Amino acid sequence: MTAPLTAPLTAPLTSPPQQTPPLALVIFGASGDLTSRKILPALANLAERGRLAEEFTVIGVARTEWSDEEFRQVALKDVPDAGEHWRELVERFRYVPGEYASTETFDRLKALLAEADQRYGTHGNRVYYLATIPSVFSLIADALAKEGCNVPGEGGEFARLVVEKPYGKDLESALDLDAAVHRAFDEDQIFRIDHYMGKETVQNVLALRFANAVFEPIWNRRYVEQIQITVAESIGVEHRGGFYETAGALRDIVQNHVMQVLALTLMEPPTGMDATHLRDEKVKLLKAVDIPTPDEAVDKAVRGQYRAGVVDQLAVPAYRDEEGVASDSMIETYVALRLRVENWRWAGVPVYVRTGKRLPARVTEVALQFHRVPFLAFEGELARQLRPNTLVLRIQPNEGISLHFGAKVPGEEFRVQSVAMDFLYDTTFHEGRESDGYPRLLHDAMCGDATLFIRTDEVEQAWRIVDPYLEAWAEPGGGGLHFYRAGTWGPHIADLLLERSGDSWRIPEL
Ligand code: NDP
Ligand code: BG6
Repeated sequence: MTAPLTAPLTAPLTSPPQQTPPLALVIFGASGDLTSRKILPALANLAERGRLAEEFTVIGVARTEWSDEEFRQVALKDVPDAGEHWRELVERFRYVPGEYASTETFDRLKALLAEADQRYGTHGNRVYYLATIPSVFSLIADALAKEGCNVPGEGGEFARLVVEKPYGKDLESALDLDAAVHRAFDEDQIFRIDHYMGKETVQNVLALRFANAVFEPIWNRRYVEQIQITVAESIGVEHRGGFYETAGALRDIVQNHVMQVLALTLMEPPTGMDATHLRDEKVKLLKAVDIPTPDEAVDKAVRGQYRAGVVDQLAVPAYRDEEGVASDSMIETYVALRLRVENWRWAGVPVYVRTGKRLPARVTEVALQFHRVPFLAFEGELARQLRPNTLVLRIQPNEGISLHFGAKVPGEEFRVQSVAMDFLYDTTFHEGRESDGYPRLLHDAMCGDATLFIRTDEVEQAWRIVDPYLEAWAEPGGGGLHFYRAGTWGPHIADLLLERSGDSWRIPEL
């Protein structure tokens, strides 16, 4: 099907912020955790910054039997410190309780949308946000198409669908989901969210690489010896044990967030910072990532699960004792991979990736370690301990960039030691870096800018990369599961992945 579009799908990343066009935002799963913790606060943020059109409203849909007023109360409670603009906007909120299989739910929704067009001037423009459990995504997309909601309302210009992760649980299910969603919406109507793409510091990888001439000549195998991507979390699975039991760290973090960061860091320079060029380059890079057979995968990955331990000076339970988790669960809360990118730029440079819950700290970083000097003319213990030059892109927290290099220690002797030159967001810029990504992405989806959203071919390629590991681990005894104490950097065996090449994991600066 084809819908009229004003969507600036090729709007460059560099366009100035704008106000959204008039529209009604429909949130499916309005009673859920994501709506509460991310979507409503993001909307409040946009409202207070004047980024929402005057002609804007929100309709929540879920099975919970709330009234409009109850939904409004939740919206106020979820953003306790919001200002006047949010309180005014919330007055307009409407809520539809109902099952997604019932036409009554969609009849009611259509009536409220028509009312919003009349009352608030939303002009027939709609953005539907699938913020509910993934197993009902295709049911909702089908119902929207069947009810004619996949095209704009009268006089409108767009009807868009925002889809949350996880986008499938493997390649096959992702293709099924895509087929279902594409039966109802065209690709240019679909906005697949990966909230890492909304983070300022993830976008800063693009600025660092493509706004500075100095890095380009060294951004390749000739200068870079190895790359490490770390997404460490100190939290456990919190209240999401039930969901996590169907996912695990590889699906939850590596297939999406890590693959996005990896693609931005290693891709070729795009000829423009717009949706088409940027995503073309990301896909090309993902296609260059080596895909092992399941047998080879066992050897290139380590998976772990946390036992009880101490994090931030607090005793925390084992994963198997978390709410909603099976007492004999074999789901991984930690994964480490040794990847290869097979192209001219990166051939032979190992890319080590690790992510885990209940690690000692929350830190996301990309570290490019450069080759050592061919000959070290300096003597002494300090010189021998010199670390190789490393460029660390710190995504969160203490957002910034550090370059580690050798410097002379003051004094009469000629001694050298490793030091760091730091750029810290906090000290240079005083606003805007804290966002969790949702305000930016929600705003872009409403404005029709797909640059920071994930295209279907990216999703598929990312599944092709991780599927062999999932396949290997599904075999009895395949890959094993190694336990680690909460509050440590994961199972010791993960060190072996690197030791084979004489490498070791970085200890991020905390
Ligand atoms: P929740 O577990 O809070 O569920 C969301 C809503 O789904 C519930 O409020 C419930 O509403 C509805 N629901 C539950 N079971 C069913 C069912 N069997 N049939 C129909 N509806 C059901 O999930 P989250 O809000 O945490 O997550 C929503 C989406 O966002 C998921 O895709 C998740 O992966 C993604 N996500 C969540 C993040 C988070 O931090 N929470 C982070 C990133 C992505 P009701 O019963 O009222 O219909
Ligand atoms: C989500 C995962 O996508 O990302 C969570 O489902 C994880 O398990 C979260 O905690 C991490 O996001 P952030 O922004 O805190 O790094």
